Amino acid sequence: MTARSITDRLGGLAFGGDYNPEQWDEPVWKEDDELMRRARVNLATLGVFSWALLEPEEGRYDFSWLDAHIERLHAGGVAVDLATPTASPPPWFTLAHPDALPVAPDGTRLIHGSRDTYCLTAPAYRSAARRIASALAERYGDHPALALWHVHNEYGTLCWCDHTAAAFRVWLRARHGSLEALNAAWGTAFWSQRYTSWEQVLPPRATQWHKNPGQALDFHRFWSDEIIAAYREQRDAIRVHSDRPVTTNLMLPAYQNVDLWAFARELDVVTSDQYPSAPGLDAAADAAFHADRTRSLAGQRPWLLMEQGTSTVYDGDQILAKEPGDILRHTLGHIARGSEGALFFQWRQSRAGAETWHSAMVPHAGPDSRIFREVMQTGEAVARLGELAGSTVTASVAVLDDPDAWWALGVDGLPSSHLDYHASLVRAHRALWDAHATVDFAHPGQELSRYRLVIAPALFLLSDAGAENLRRYVAGGGTLLVQHASGYVDDRMHARLGGYPAGPLREALGIRVEEYRPLRTDQRITLSDGSHGTVWSESLRCEGAQTLAAYTHGMLTGSPALTRHRFGTGQGWYLSTRLDDADYGSLIGRLLKETGIEPELPGQPPGVEAVTRHAADGRHWHFLINHRTDAVPLPGPAHDLLTGALAHEIPPGGCVVLRRP
Ligand code: GLA
Repeated sequence: MTARSITDRLGGLAFGGDYNPEQWDEPVWKEDDELMRRARVNLATLGVFSWALLEPEEGRYDFSWLDAHIERLHAGGVAVDLATPTASPPPWFTLAHPDALPVAPDGTRLIHGSRDTYCLTAPAYRSAARRIASALAERYGDHPALALWHVHNEYGTLCWCDHTAAAFRVWLRARHGSLEALNAAWGTAFWSQRYTSWEQVLPPRATQWHKNPGQALDFHRFWSDEIIAAYREQRDAIRVHSDRPVTTNLMLPAYQNVDLWAFARELDVVTSDQYPSAPGLDAAADAAFHADRTRSLAGQRPWLLMEQGTSTVYDGDQILAKEPGDILRHTLGHIARGSEGALFFQWRQSRAGAETWHSAMVPHAGPDSRIFREVMQTGEAVARLGELAGSTVTASVAVLDDPDAWWALGVDGLPSSHLDYHASLVRAHRALWDAHATVDFAHPGQELSRYRLVIAPALFLLSDAGAENLRRYVAGGGTLLVQHASGYVDDRMHARLGGYPAGPLREALGIRVEEYRPLRTDQRITLSDGSHGTVWSESLRCEGAQTLAAYTHGMLTGSPALTRHRFGTGQGWYLSTRLDDADYGSLIGRLLKETGIEPELPGQPPGVEAVTRHAADGRHWHFLINHRTDAVPLPGPAHDLLTGALAHEIPPGGCVVLRRP
């Protein structure tokens, strides 16, 4: 089962969103039917937060209200993405099973009144979740309206309770085999942390000072496996009764609680949610980052944008509005990068409750509003793109992404708290996006030879196998850029001895890092080529590499900062500081040039996105998204799928989609 099975059922790309009709009444439902028709909605996600209605008391289910909504949607030609409601247990569940409430690292037990208030390791929660998933599947598993199963919502809530402690120990025994091995892995010889029985081993709860880094890393891995297991249980319960594809909406925010590579492998269709944290061009770049990452998680297969906001930008403590035209531009930014449609959270803006101020397809102002007009325009555009269902995107550049490396940069006691994993990935992607390159993300252990350029912005942790894979990639003709503080620890969080990074990578890069020298927060250094660095510097030695730029300050004066090494038939580049944005952009531009990577549609000015989707039969579609305030001429007049007419230019803030040949 693939995303294709959804588009086949819908007869085109998906358009719609989370639909929570239980917040409204009959007259509003009637209006919803009419407005969905006008907006060309063909898929609605039902039931994400409906547990309290579906199971008003333990073991007693009430499906009558849901039956009615499903029939109503079906009659209107809207297919259903049916959720299991397990992300928000009702109050009765809490009172019946207080041991299933989550406990924070400091021991505080949380209580209902919000959402996601459960511990995934609690047996009572897990069996209640399986039961309701199974009951839903039994009732609706072969309903003709059903296009997709949506298990849970944005898995990722962690807990430090006693159930978790017990499950963590089971996981640790399986991973390490013996207490001896666990002690060795966690380096418990230091600070007198040696464990002499399994009962002494705990989750990393609130401690007096630094937590053990190996324990912290293993706790993340444990939780990732636990979350995936919880998903699998519901998925398998559903599969007993239904042959429709099953997914869960992945969340790709600036933290990571799941190994998304592993999780994505369990999903019939990879789906994800995207909410930018800055407006304007940054929001468009964020959509591209998100879409490229989700497509990569999906193994370059089509995927589906499960949620975005019509006008929600989470900027710290405020919700900013999107600009006119952003709904279409962001939607096409995702579809251009492989999404088989675009869904929103949520259909109708809540009148009450915790997300009253989160934007929606039908805002508080009602359908006579800019937002709803743009939703209709976007629905119309998506409806015109049905022919490209199943096509995908190919990239020549990959940015390396490994959850272990992310978690490793989150442990206590690192030499700098300014080694930000997520920000480093965003930065690498942004520099490539600005250069009009189409980007994949890749795991350092995966086959990389299809990429001409690979960038490793933040591999602080790198396993032996990963290091060997990168060595092989360069030897076989690839060009690799490794950035500062990479390959410092192995997959047990043990420091690499004899110089960083890990041995095989040192060989490929032709360097040896002898000493890390974080920079003061106000320090900005100049390199010999005039570029500037902050955050980090390193004392390194060339062992075969050539110095392209050297440090010019303090004891590092004259020593290499940026190097290149010809190795096998490829090149290993190493950058040992964090370059300023403009300098980093120039370096990325230089690497793209050296590797002969051209934009798919050369000649686009800054602020115009150009991405191509390719079908197996050779047809392809160019998406051109203009974030500028001026019109951008096309190389020649071309038929635009969005208007059905000949286009000569991309209008200011507008988009065109061109079919080739
Ligand atoms: C997430 C959730 C939704 C909603 C939105 C709001 O993506 O899945 O339920 O809370 O965030 O941004």
